[in-house]
Amino acid sequence: MNEQTVIALGSDHAGFALKRPLRDYLDEMGIRYIDYGCFSGEAVDYPDFAYRAAMAVASRLTKYGIVICGTGIGVSITANKVAGIRAALCCTPFMAELARKHNDANMLALGARTTTHEQAIEIVEIFLKTPFEGNRHKIRVEKIHLLSGR
Ligand code: RB5
Repeated sequence: MNEQTVIALGSDHAGFALKRPLRDYLDEMGIRYIDYGCFSGEAVDYPDFAYRAAMAVASRLTKYGIVICGTGIGVSITANKVAGIRAALCCTPFMAELARKHNDANMLALGARTTTHEQAIEIVEIFLKTPFEGNRHKIRVEKIHLLSGR
């Protein structure tokens, strides 16, 4: 990650509670982001927001994306529908580390109802600083994209 790195954020109403401390953390670290909503705890549909964040990553407007819903499941399913997206639902820092090292994940999905704010920040920290290992993992990641043509 360098100072040019920009992150696309997206959440539904359940994820909004976690997005706030996450934004504070990114501000504190000087990491730039674009927040694609939602912007309150009022009920919305998670696919709308996960899709917007995923499109920002797929079009290379941002390098990474972080999407949040209650469990992280709905937003990860949605983001992975977009060609070029490798969204990883991570519940631990170790999962985030391997999502980057082995899967070259370009989006991180988090569950606001399943992960504490402190755990989430730790997961984000690891996700953003861990590079892809390449080599045999590159072949495997390429196989994923052959399935969707991208
Ligand atoms: C919203 O209640 C909840 O269903 C949503 O945030 C998410 O957990 C879906 O996967």
